[in-house]
Parts: sequence; structure tokens; C-alpha cells
Amino acid sequence: MKRLITVTASRKIAIAVFVAGGMSFGTAVAQQADVKASSADIQRGRYLVRITGCNDCHTPGYPESNGKTDEKLWLTGSPLGWRGPWGTTYASNLRLVLQNLSEAQWLKHARNEWRPPMPWFNLREMSDADLKAMYRYIRHLGAAGEPAPAYVPPDKTPKQPYVQFPAPPK
Ligand code: HEC
Repeated sequence: MKRLITVTASRKIAIAVFVAGGMSFGTAVAQQADVKASSADIQRGRYLVRITGCNDCHTPGYPESNGKTDEKLWLTGSPLGWRGPWGTTYASNLRLVLQNLSEAQWLKHARNEWRPPMPWFNLREMSDADLKAMYRYIRHLGAAGEPAPAYVPPDKTPKQPYVQFPAPPK
């Protein structure tokens, strides 16, 4: 069998296939679950998430802890609002968002244009290989936490603490 590290859901499928006497254990998992992360994917994904700064906003308390936040909490979204002319945005819980996306959908989703201060213009420059490694790593971490607070339009004041941005220079 190929060495595969899979999410819990695919493990269940794998066990079912195994019990049913499936001949090709690894292949069945890959086809049915759409997510498989090799240890190389996990290492690369973790490295990319760390050095490209995703935790700085998408992990609660990460900058305040000097980057020491437990990996279990990585990318679970943040209740800190970012308020500017665009309204107030919240860094999404990527652990939940990615549960609803196939790898192919992630490649498109990751290259969308998002509101500030999400650096979508940086994410858009990432190669497919890098984005896939991030996807496999984040899916490997699994679902955790609650969705981030909903977007607040510019004319409404957010209830939770927020960082106030000035209007951008013209
Ligand atoms: C400076 C803060 C900041 C950083 C750094 C940052 N993000 Fe974001 N991100 C946000 C905010 C805020 C939103 C919500 C934007 C919106 O509401 O349009 C967001 C939204 C997203 C979304 C859309 C998710 C959804 O709700 O469907 C994705 C995907 C995403 N970020 C991925 C990343 C990745 C991957 C990295 C690391 C390369 C990263 N972000 C770094 C702040 C940040």
C-alpha cells in the first residue's frame, strides 16, 4: 500500500473498502475522498502557510503570541475586525472553508479577489503546486472552530474589537 496520510473521513472510507475486501486500498481512497496528503505535502503546506503569513490574520492571537499559537488552532479564523472604506472584514476560518471545496475548486477560490486587508494579489501569484500543498495541509489539519464573524457594511459599527484603517492614499 502506498504511504498515505488521509483525513478522518477518508480513513472511514478506507476502512469500509478494506472490510469489503477491496483489492487496491490506496487507489480506492484517492478516488473516493479527493484528498490525500503525503508527508511531503504536509511539510511543504505547513512551511508555506507559515512563511506567507496566513496565520498572521487567519489564526486567533497568532501575532500577539509571537507565532507560538498551537498548530491545532492554525487558520481557525479570527474575531478581530478590519475596518476601512470597504466595511469591516474578518479573516475566514479556512479550516472550515476548505471542507466545502475540492482541490480544483480551491485553485479558483484562492485566486478570487477578496476585500482588504486579505492579500489576494499575493495568493494569486502562487503556483498550482504551492496552492495544492497548502490545500492538502489544511485539509489534513481538519475542520475546527467556528466560522469567523460575518462581514459588516461600511455604514454599520461592528460589535467586536476592530482595527481602523484610514482611507487609502490617492
Ligand atoms: C492581513 C490579513 C490577512 C492575511 C495576511 C491573509 N488573509 Fe486571507 N483573508 C483576510 C480577510 C480579512 C479575509 C476576508 C475578506 C473578505 O471578507 O472579502 C480573508 C479571506 C480569505 C479567503 C476567502 C475565504 C472565504 O471566506 O471563502 C481565503 C481563501 C484566504 N483569505 C486565504 C489566505 C491565505 C492562504 C493566506 C496566506 C497566504 C491569507 N489568506 C493571508 C485577511 C488576511
